[in-house]
Amino acid sequence: MKELRNRQQIQIGDRIFEKYLNRDTIRARIQELGREISIDYRDKDPLFVIVLNGAFMFAADLLRATSLECELQFVKLSSYSGTSSTGQVKQIIGLPETLKARHVIIVEDIVDTGKTIMSMITDLAAHDPASVSIATLLLKPDCLLFELESTYVGFEIPDAFVIGYGLDLDGRARNLCDIYQVVS
Ligand code: IMP
Repeated sequence: MKELRNRQQIQIGDRIFEKYLNRDTIRARIQELGREISIDYRDKDPLFVIVLNGAFMFAADLLRATSLECELQFVKLSSYSGTSSTGQVKQIIGLPETLKARHVIIVEDIVDTGKTIMSMITDLAAHDPASVSIATLLLKPDCLLFELESTYVGFEIPDAFVIGYGLDLDGRARNLCDIYQVVS
């Protein structure tokens, strides 16, 4: 990873990315989401289901931005190879068996076509939860193929590949504190 133009751009392999959302903007929005979720889920003892790997950083900040008594579980899915969707959703680490009658909040890094999240919701429904909602840091509305209900969205973004703050390009760049958008 190479920094260019005063850290406003980085290069990974032959791809150039430009800074798109800085850490302060991300932090401020997550604080708002945390407050909103804390009000909506007061006295509901929610279970956060965190989708690995991409949501690890968002989840850590979001959960600390809430003032709730809550639990969390991790699941791991993969549907991407490089910068375009393979269209296949694989569940690697399964859902816990303790979802019955729980208020579940799925925590995702980004919703693109929505296939990943819809597959999670279908799997979750089989466990008879009391409710299911989604908290996603990013949403690409132009790519979405489904109607999503009860969704907490950090930022709506255009249809361009982004990296950083948990989001990767073939496993790289997850550790960046800011979010970068592909330029070329
Ligand atoms: P979907 O199933 O098309 O909604 O894709 C969701 C998953 O694809 C996310 O959890 C990410 O892992 C990955 N993904 C989608 N768009 C991007 C992106 O712009 N950057 C990095 N990963 C992405």
